[in-house]
Amino acid sequence: MKIASIVGTRPNFVKAVLLSKEIRRKNKEILIHAGQHYDYQMNKIFFDELAIPEPNYHLGVGSGTHAYQTGEMMKKIEKVLMKERPDLALVYGDCNSTLAGALAAVKLHCLIAHVEAGPRFFDKSVPEEVNRVLTDHVSTLLFAPTQIAVDNLKREGIEQGVYLTGDVMLDSFLHFSKVAERSSKILDRLGLSKGEYLLATVHRARNTDIKENLGNLVSVFLDIGEKIIFPIHPRTEKHLKQFGLFNKLKNAPNIKLIPPVGYLDSISLTKNAKKVLTDSGGLQKEAYFSKVPCITLDEATGWPETVEVEWNILVGTNKRKIIEAVKQFEPKGKQKNIFGSGRAREKITSIISRFELEKNT
Ligand code: UD1
Repeated sequence: MKIASIVGTRPNFVKAVLLSKEIRRKNKEILIHAGQHYDYQMNKIFFDELAIPEPNYHLGVGSGTHAYQTGEMMKKIEKVLMKERPDLALVYGDCNSTLAGALAAVKLHCLIAHVEAGPRFFDKSVPEEVNRVLTDHVSTLLFAPTQIAVDNLKREGIEQGVYLTGDVMLDSFLHFSKVAERSSKILDRLGLSKGEYLLATVHRARNTDIKENLGNLVSVFLDIGEKIIFPIHPRTEKHLKQFGLFNKLKNAPNIKLIPPVGYLDSISLTKNAKKVLTDSGGLQKEAYFSKVPCITLDEATGWPETVEVEWNILVGTNKRKIIEAVKQFEPKGKQKNIFGSGRAREKITSIISRFELEKNT
């Protein structure tokens, strides 16, 4: 089969890396990079460290408003799909590049497979929710990471083509944890030891773009009385500067602001943290895989199972709740096998092969 894999952002790269290798064993893969992320630390470091093959097409779209970014990506992806005529377009997650790839493909009557179909926030003001819902509704094959994702799709009337495969992020985590153990030097570089710091990340629009929410988070981080390692997303840095908050964080003795980190350093920082504070869906899962308690700086999560088993707690940007969770939140329950066995990539490729066979007979 000829499969066009469309990626654009760092979470896409992490999801695609091993599946892409698996696909290439029996199929021809065309890798299309929309260029939504482009800074070295947001983009190339993932290709270099994880040995992701050079994209066949780099569309270089970059940043902009949602409509601008999605529209530009659609126009460029359409051109490539018209030239390459793949049997299947493969898209990942919930980014603008995901939706752009799906819309460009469906309009060309190209079949779409969506990896990480089905998680929901039940809130259309979250841009990722819109991207994921729309992508799911135009996809032919939907690879759901969890049972709740399957149930969400069913509620929306999508049952055909849905497969519970487990989560490709677990595949990547298990594989690259070993690499990180050998090669990540971030703990030494920052002078950290296991369990003595909190890892914090913030990048969701409703936390970064609303002054009150970002201000609350900064004020909690300053008052928390714990060492915080804070790899800072460019969007967050921009807004901190705009709201006059950046220097407060930079000068705080308990906070270490660092540039965005690659995947290997991110795994190492997560596995060795006392707790993780984040609004990232991916990091919530990686904290779970690492058996590190997660405090989610959001009102909702695409991964409610992690909250149900009490390894994750939702606190939004509420100062009291965050401080309480940092002091008191300790998972009591045993972990459950929520995200599969770490072999999602094989399940996905075998479903794709079977689908192709049935289509042609
Ligand atoms: C996107 C995804 C989000 C994912 C996140 C991971 C959407 C709607 N959101 O959010 O689901 O969790 O990626 O990081 O697609 N910027 C740079 N350099 C870069 C990339 C971005 O400076 O390489 C800055 C720009 O100012 C840009 C802003 O970050 O305007 C936001 O970037 P964008 O790609 O729009 O969304 P993310 O916040 O990264």
